[in-house]
This record gives sequence, C-alpha cells and structure tokens, in this order.
Amino acid sequence: MSAAASAPRPRLAALGRRPLDALGSLMRRSPKAAAGIVILLVLSLMAISAPLWTSYDPTSLAFKSMLTPSRLHPLGTTFVGQDILSQLLYGARFTMLIGLLTGLIATLIGTAVGISAAYFGGRFDEIVNGIINVVLVLPGFPLLIVAAALLENAGDWAIIIVISLTGWAWGARVLRAQAMTLRRRDFIDAAVSTGEGPGRIIFREMLPNLSGIIAANFFGTALYGVLSESGLKFIGVGDVTQPSWGSMLYWAAGHTALLKGAWWWVMAPGLCIALLGTSFALLNFAIDEIANPKAANAGRLRAARRGKGRVLASQSAAQTLTRPNMKIQPPNPAALLSVRHLTAGYQTPQGPVRAVRNVSLDVMPGEFLGLAGESGCGKSTLAFAATRLLAEPGEVFSGQSVLEGVDLLTLSESELRRRRWKDYSMVFQASMNVLNPVLRVREQLYDAMQAHGVTDKAKLDARARELFGLVGIRESYLDVYPHQLSGGMKQRVVIAIALALEPKLVVLDEPTTALDVVVQRQILEEIQAVRRRLGIGIVMITHDLSLLTEMSDRIAIMYAGEIVEEAPSSVLQSAPLHPYTRRLMTAFPPLGGERTRREGIPGRPPSLALDLTGCPFAERCDSVMPICSLQKPVLSDLSPGHRVACFLHASPEQLTLAKPEVNHVLASD
Ligand SMILES: Nc1ncnc2c1ncn2[C@@H]1O[C@H](COP(=O)(O)OP(=O)(O)O)[C@@H](O)[C@H]1O
Ligand code: SF4
Ligand SMILES: [Mg+2]
Repeated sequence: MSAAASAPRPRLAALGRRPLDALGSLMRRSPKAAAGIVILLVLSLMAISAPLWTSYDPTSLAFKSMLTPSRLHPLGTTFVGQDILSQLLYGARFTMLIGLLTGLIATLIGTAVGISAAYFGGRFDEIVNGIINVVLVLPGFPLLIVAAALLENAGDWAIIIVISLTGWAWGARVLRAQAMTLRRRDFIDAAVSTGEGPGRIIFREMLPNLSGIIAANFFGTALYGVLSESGLKFIGVGDVTQPSWGSMLYWAAGHTALLKGAWWWVMAPGLCIALLGTSFALLNFAIDEIANPKAANAGRLRAARRGKGRVLASQSAAQTLTRPNMKIQPPNPAALLSVRHLTAGYQTPQGPVRAVRNVSLDVMPGEFLGLAGESGCGKSTLAFAATRLLAEPGEVFSGQSVLEGVDLLTLSESELRRRRWKDYSMVFQASMNVLNPVLRVREQLYDAMQAHGVTDKAKLDARARELFGLVGIRESYLDVYPHQLSGGMKQRVVIAIALALEPKLVVLDEPTTALDVVVQRQILEEIQAVRRRLGIGIVMITHDLSLLTEMSDRIAIMYAGEIVEEAPSSVLQSAPLHPYTRRLMTAFPPLGGERTRREGIPGRPPSLALDLTGCPFAERCDSVMPICSLQKPVLSDLSPGHRVACFLHASPEQLTLAKPEVNHVLASD
C-alpha cells in the first residue's frame, strides 16, 4: 500500500471531531452545507422563541373567522378563528421534533444494522442484507398510511415509530457498504490483532470513521420524517388538532383556503416545510459529498470465495499429506515459535494460489530470525498464517504454528485474542495505515494496553512515555493525530504499540520499506536495542538480504513459497550454498563498504498458482541439472543449523529416494 493510500482523509476525519468544530469546518468547506445550516438555525430559532413573537395560544378560538393579515394577526386567522402565525411558530416545534426523533431513531437502527452486518459478515450479513432489500422495495407511503391508520389511537409516538421503522433501510444499506470497505482497512485488522473485541472495534475504531455518513444519513431520514408526517397529517391521519405544519395544511385544504383567497394560510406552512426539507437535503448532500460513500456488495463474492476456499483446503491438505518421502517433524519444544508443515494460500478468480508450501521453521527465545526472498515468494503469507492473522481470501490449509507449546492455529477466537499482543505482536508491511486517523496516538497506545486489562491511567501514561522513549520519539508527540507525524514517526509509533505489552515474539514484515535509508537504519537500530533490552524474539521479513545479514542471528531464505536455505547469519554471509541465496546476496548492496555493481536475478519466480514438480528455481538456476526439473529437493542438514534444499548439496539418501524415472535419468547421466 502506498503512503498516499495511508494518508488520513482529513475532510472525513474532521466530521468526527467536536460537533461545533465539525459544523464550522463543514460551513467553510461547502456552500450547500452553509445554506442548509443557516436555514435550519432560523427555523429552529423560530420554534424555540415562539412565545417572543406571539402572545396567542395556537389552539385558542378567540378571534374572528378568516381575518386577513393585519398588525394584530400578521398571517390572519383560520376558519375557526385561530391565529395562523402562532400556529406556524408553535407548529414548527412539533414538526421539527418529529424530524429530529425520526431521524435519530431511523439512523440508530440503520447504523446498528448496517455496521453489524458488515462487521460480522457471512450468513448474518446475507440475512440482514435480505431484510434491508425487502424493506427497501416495500412502498413507503402507502405502508405508512396503513400502519398509522391502524395505530391512530396510539398517539404521536406511534407515528414517530412507524415513520422510523419504514425509513431506516436506506441508511443501513449505505452504512453497510461503507463499513465493509472500512472493515478491510489495515487499522481495523490491526485492532483485531491487538485483541480488541467487536464492540470496541465497532464503537471506537469504525464509528468515528463513519461519522460523516451517519450524519448525512440522519439528515436524509429527518427529511423523510418531516415529509411523511406532513403528508400523513395533510390527509388526516394522526392527531390533526395538534398544531403542526402538516395539520395546518389539512385544515387549510379542508376549508378551501385557496378558493376563499386566504393563500397565506396554505403558503406559510407549505413554505416552512419546503425550507426545512431543503435545509435537510442540502446538509445531507453536503456531508454525503464529503464522506463519499462507496457502495460495495462483497457478500456474495466472499461467500463464493469461502466455498472455493474449502475445496482448495482439502486439495492442498491432501497434497501436503500424501507427498511421498515426506518426513513429518514434530514441533521443537525448545523453540519460542515452532512452525511445522505449514501450507497456506489464497483463492483467486484465476484459481487457488499456494503461497506457503509445507514450511517448517523455528524461532528460539530471544532470537532475531531474518526471513528474506524476492517479492511475491510468500514471506508475508507465512508471517500472517503463522500468527493466525491471514484474512480472507487467505486460508491456512494445514500445519501447525506452536508458540510456547500452544498451537495458535487450533486456539478458540477468545483465547487467541487474549494471547495476541500479549504473547506476540506484529508490525505490518504498510504499518502507517494501521493507525486510526481520527484517534490521537496516545489513545491508540492505550487501546492496545486496555484491551489486555491495563486500565490504571497513571500506569498507562507512564508506559506510553516509556514506550515512546524506547522507540526514540519525544513525549510531546503522544497527543497528536497520525497525520501530524512523518512516515518514520508513524512507523515508530506502530512499533511502540507492538511492544506495549512486552510480547515474547514480534514479527516485523518489511517494517521500513517505505522509508528513506537513514530513517530505516535508525529504526532498525532501535529495534535491535529494544530486543537486547527486553530479550524478545524477533522475526524480520525483508527482500533486502544484506540488511538482514547485519542484524539477524539466523536467516531463512524463501523462494516460491518454500524455505530453500536456512543458516546462522555469519555462515550464510560467508558461505551461501543455494544458488538462489548466492544470487540474492549479490542483488543488494551491503549497508556499509565500497559501492559495487549489483546484478539482478534474471527471470521471475514461478507462479504460485502452479503445482511445481521439480526445483522451483530450476528455470533461473545456472547450475541446473537433469534431476532438478524432475524432483523437488528437500531441505537437508549440512552442518548444525545449516539446511539447504538443492541437489548440488543433496545427501546420498535423498538421491536414492528419487522416483524411478529420476534414477533412470541419473543412471544415464
Ligand atoms: N490477497 C491475495 N489474493 C491472492 N493472492 C495473493 C494475495 N496476497 C498475496 N497473494 C499472492 O501470494 C503470493 C505470496 O505473496 P506474499 O506473501 O505477499 O509475498 P511476499 O511477502 O514475499 O512479497 C504472491 O504470488 C501473491 O501474488
Ligand atoms: S536443485 Fe538444481 S535447479 Fe534447484 S537450485 Fe539446486 S541446482 Fe539449481
Ligand atoms: Mg510481503
């Protein structure tokens, strides 16, 4: 993900700030919003200060019938002698209250339904989406008339409830679509991975980012409420003795006001309804323009992916388990993390991709393990799969990932939530995106700690300061928003969050790729210092091998979804054995020393959608032999801690285990 994609959306974020700030910035930014707010303020003021403008009771019949406008009655009187101005002013209260309440209730329902459908997804989402669609196709106004007529004696609340229940679905649909997009954003994944529960993620992470859409939805449904109430009253449904703009129209129409020349009796409430509607519509459009919701109907696609994913899982597991000559290795009890026979991948429209293929790897307590390889060879997938953070369409097909004796892949969701961030944490490839743009950095640090039971404010504050010191950021930056930080600072904040609970293992996936070399180096040095101080195990992923040889205790080289060589860093640096490792060593400049010409590796890694029979590097290898395209070399121990998967270094046992056709080729060689 690019830095641009990670940049906060300030306009949207602004709507999540304090209401008055948000209102001010909205007015400055959008003429539509400014006009809407001014009209709404005038009408609200009119309703609130009604007793200042008139001393008459709007229901009093004390005056002569059908008086024309005068100083005493600026809008004349009704057929039964009521003052029209007082009706208009007091009626504004009821009509606007209906708009406010129906807007609130319908928005609450729509928001709750839309966001929960997007968050929980799956079958729940399909059912909820079905209900939304049914409510949307029901003819609104006829339904309202029937429901309101049935509940005629239940009073105004019945009208409010009926209008709200028929008006929530559109908002739910928009919110669901937008929340689905948000659900896939990195900072939500990060919140899930820090162990935050659904309630906290929905209310703290998602809602502030959806505030613009929710506000737009409120004005949309309030408009619907005002028009519906006025429409119902106009045709005589509900309590028409209650002064409101709708009931004024009802009485004016009933007494043929226009035919009698009393046009002001119709015009005044009609104009007010139109103005209120215009202000709500303007605000709805303005906020909508700013928030710009994108509709996305991912439900079916995800269901399809899930279906295909299961097929892929069984195929892949079968392939993994039935491969001839494969020795099943148990997890290493001395290791902090012991990954065994891990196979994971993705379902794509072009077919399944097996991005991690039967990988076994150990990380010892306090060890710095480097994982290197070209882009697309499965490093991130391995890290995500091993930490059980691989999201759809990704799936772990088989294998184990044992952290301190517990297989993460078999844990319940709640147990996993408890362990994540406390026992292990992860810094993602595009980590800047994991910071929520509308929360201050301090709150985001607190969130990770609070999710694991640290609630004491003094402790939280002390730890936040300590963590910032650890990653080299001044304490004053604790109270800024992410967009006020540079890329390097954001990266340090993310690393601080990952270290918040002093986990035993931190997985860093290309933590410095997007940064310039100087900042990269500073951050990596800080990571090293923190590791030494806290004694945590680190897995660092990068495609830059020379960087890893400087920092790691041990390095594993990955190619086409498999580990092809693994050795102590010094051994790998002085005597790399796999032809791919040797090429990779020369492809990146060393961090220090003389500048030399670097050679790329010609060709490209094979597609991971293919089932590879021979050595995956065969097509690019200078030392390729006939056996290489016929059989897959397996990792064999050459010296303590040095394993290589290459026929150049194969044991005699490996060669005699070769298939008959391979033996034939070897014999004739
Ligand atoms: N969401 C995805 N859907 C389909 N294929 C994916 C997805 N993410 C990664 N892949 C594929 O999986 C393979 C390994 O990707 P990745 O683990 O990101 O590699 P690396 O981290 O080494 O660059 C690549 O071929 C990539 O195209
Ligand atoms: S097994 Fe063969 S093709 Fe593969 S790296 Fe070794 S020599 Fe090259
Ligand atoms: Mg990657």
